[in-house]
Amino acid sequence: MAEKAKEANGKLGVLVVGLGAVTTTFMTGVFMARKGLAKPVGSMTQFDKIRVGRGENKKYLHYKDIVPIASLDDIVFGAWDVYPENAYESAINAEVLKEKDIEPVKDELKAIKPMKAAFDKNYAKRLDGDNTMGDITRWEMVERLREDIRNFKKETGVERVVVLWAASTEVYVAVDEKVHGTEEAMVAAMKADDKEHIAPSMCYAYAALLEGCPFIMGAPNTTVDFPAMWEVAERTKMPIAGKDFKTGQTLVKSGFAPIIGTRCLGLSGWFSTNILGNRDGLVLDEPANFRTKEVSKLSTLESILVPEEQPDLYNDYYHKVRINYYPPRNDNKEGWDNIDIFGWMGYPMQIKINFLCRDSILAAPLCLDLVLLSDLAARAGRYGTQKFLSFFLKSPMHDYTEGEIPVNHLFQQYVMLKNAIREMGGYEADEEID
Ligand SMILES: NC(=O)c1ccc[n+]([C@@H]2O[C@H](COP(=O)([O-])OP(=O)(O)OC[C@H]3O[C@@H](n4cnc5c(N)ncnc54)[C@H](O)[C@@H]3O)[C@@H](O)[C@H]2O)c1
Repeated sequence: MAEKAKEANGKLGVLVVGLGAVTTTFMTGVFMARKGLAKPVGSMTQFDKIRVGRGENKKYLHYKDIVPIASLDDIVFGAWDVYPENAYESAINAEVLKEKDIEPVKDELKAIKPMKAAFDKNYAKRLDGDNTMGDITRWEMVERLREDIRNFKKETGVERVVVLWAASTEVYVAVDEKVHGTEEAMVAAMKADDKEHIAPSMCYAYAALLEGCPFIMGAPNTTVDFPAMWEVAERTKMPIAGKDFKTGQTLVKSGFAPIIGTRCLGLSGWFSTNILGNRDGLVLDEPANFRTKEVSKLSTLESILVPEEQPDLYNDYYHKVRINYYPPRNDNKEGWDNIDIFGWMGYPMQIKINFLCRDSILAAPLCLDLVLLSDLAARAGRYGTQKFLSFFLKSPMHDYTEGEIPVNHLFQQYVMLKNAIREMGGYEADEEID
């Protein structure tokens, strides 16, 4: 039987990289919920109920009644950002929430002033803020970030810290065995200031793990998705999770594709496009940054509708994903999916999905759940890649060096989540993933 989680004593520090639309929506919602002025809708840790026990002993309980999840009242926030605005100013600028939903927690938000970012403009050309550590080496970044984490702990008196990346998507860094293969090689590259292979996000992740903090990658960056970081997570006994919050279009895809697969319908093409106008959209308008997102978004379908398993149904389907920067919509993304399927005797049919969503409103509960569950995992002695968190992520990490296939199917991911909660609560992981 897996380890039962230890109690959540003391305060939980949540240090977020990036104090933009997603982060400020997350923080504002937590503060408002604490005051009883809003509900954290969409959060599994706050709403979902799962079964524990079987037969006569069967009960449906909220997560907090199964495992010791940290309370919202115990969260203390901090952040880093390239821009100097505090969380209140940034929430207003983001225009996600109405002022009436921000004003009641203005003081709490104003108190969150971003620390200087470990930033390299070559990784996000469209950003030009000056609240950065300046032109320092990658190794200096690691050292300064470690100091920031330690100071935050000292100043706030928090017991534990989780580090969450909700900053811009960096340009794509392909995994290179020579640099990313072992911790030793990665550290050598950081010390040699290898700016091409070491993204700033890797410095945040390495600093976090060395300081005993779980690290979560909410963007599609490859930051902790290579053997060197897996090795560090194992050595430091810290959980890591990633990549890319599964919010709008990909959530729909990972929930809808199983309908096609379960009914043995065929697929000839799936075209996804969307328009969004927030800063995330601006950064993703840069082809090198979009490439990172594209790799992440494309991976979802292939592991749900698998050509090798059903060649008559899924051979050679055309899958295309586009994102278009369109300022008038700001954070209110509109997504279109056109799905070309075929049925009995190969007759074609089409499905159209038009999702008018709000990006940060969908991402905020994922931030909360990922943070609380990573903290829980650490207290349960779990470390390395946390596959049970795949439910929340578009491009779940997996050991590709061993040919492992990621689980993208939403309902299989949900089983993995429920089993992990059961185990960390001292129950049996009793559901089959099939
Ligand atoms: N909202 C969603 O639905 C969703 C879904 C999946 C992933 N994401 C990802 O979440 C991230 C945040 O999205 P957002 O809408 O809040 O974007 P945003 O542009 O509003 O905020 C990102 C912030 O990160 C800061 N930043 C960039 N590089 C940094 C660095 N090296 N150190 C510190 N700060 C840095 C930027 O200055 C900016 O303020 C993006 O990478 C996005 O792709 C969002």
